[in-house]
Amino acid sequence: METKLLKPTDENIEEAARIIAAGGLVAFPTETVYGLGADALNPGAVAAVYRAKGRPSDNPLIVHIAASDDLAKLTPVVTEIMKTLAEHFWPGPLTMVVPRADRVPDITTGGLDTVAVRLPANEYTRKLIAVSGCPLVGPSANISGKPSPTKAAHVVDDLFGKIDAVLMGEDCSVGIESTVLDVSDGELTILRPGIITPEQIERATGRKVKLDPALLCYRDGGFDTLSPRQADNDLLAGDEDPNFKPRAPGMKYKHYAPNAEMLIIEGSRERVKSEIEKRKAQQEAMGKKVGVILFEPGDFEGAAQELFDRLRSMDKESVDLILAGALPSEDGRGFAIMNRMLKSAGNNIIKV
Ligand code: TXA
Ligand code: MG
Repeated sequence: METKLLKPTDENIEEAARIIAAGGLVAFPTETVYGLGADALNPGAVAAVYRAKGRPSDNPLIVHIAASDDLAKLTPVVTEIMKTLAEHFWPGPLTMVVPRADRVPDITTGGLDTVAVRLPANEYTRKLIAVSGCPLVGPSANISGKPSPTKAAHVVDDLFGKIDAVLMGEDCSVGIESTVLDVSDGELTILRPGIITPEQIERATGRKVKLDPALLCYRDGGFDTLSPRQADNDLLAGDEDPNFKPRAPGMKYKHYAPNAEMLIIEGSRERVKSEIEKRKAQQEAMGKKVGVILFEPGDFEGAAQELFDRLRSMDKESVDLILAGALPSEDGRGFAIMNRMLKSAGNNIIKV
């Protein structure tokens, strides 16, 4: 299939909307990462999204809407808490998991009785959704398992020839995927951390926010240093049974994996730097190509924006080993970025 690369002009948005209406696939920019769009209410179109990405079919998709009012078409009752969250964070990088309305097909929700909904900030994409006249599924527009796409070029690299069109927008300003917050059972539970932090949600709602225990299972032996406020045990939404199932099915799959081996090093800035230098020299002496990811201290926004692009660039350069400095997870944004880095590294982390 010839993939059309469409600049986001009014005419092209109309062409993209026609493709969507005909059951086709169009990748679109959002503030977080690029999404792979299709009519969320058309099971055949949604099936094609899973196929194009090579995505397991029990991993449900986020449904993207053009305006807050559209939430009422996807869930039986828009509750006060949903309204408050929408007022504070939409359009923006927050996804709400809500009870699903009957019209949302099983394939979109992976058979769950909830549906994940998000109103993205990108103006062109909201226009695309509005003109299409249907909500759009939008998993990250990458081959399943690869780092998420934060530039149109990343989408082209992964999906050219496999989808109908790409809406070629700007680079994504956030750079990591939305915060996924479950509001379906009366509690507020973060299923996937993002740039919108638990603290921000608590401030906006006056309610306590819990973390899905799946987020704390970073490595054998426990959660000791890698979660925010982990000492505060009542924030855990369930018990610490190692056999529990994550509530966001996507969290259990291999993710964001570069081709290179990756090691994260945690400790004081000086120690991390010198450990990286030491290991880099050792590996280079053995003829290996080494890439280093060491973000500026405190610049969480910059780190989020760059991470996936850095991983993809290193793959292009055929790096053998990536050495990365850990970010402080006490900060909610650092925690969200570390969640991605740990998955990229297959939980390969050492302390110095
Ligand atoms: O920022 C984002 O959210 C991007 C952009 C394109 O909007 N989209 C994205 O979609 O990251 P995806 O499909 O790559 O990730 C969706 C996550 C997965 O972890 C999935 O398991 C979870 O949301 N999810 C979707 N529906 C759910 C539901 N009903 N209950 C629990 N988790 C759900
Ligand atoms: Mg994804």
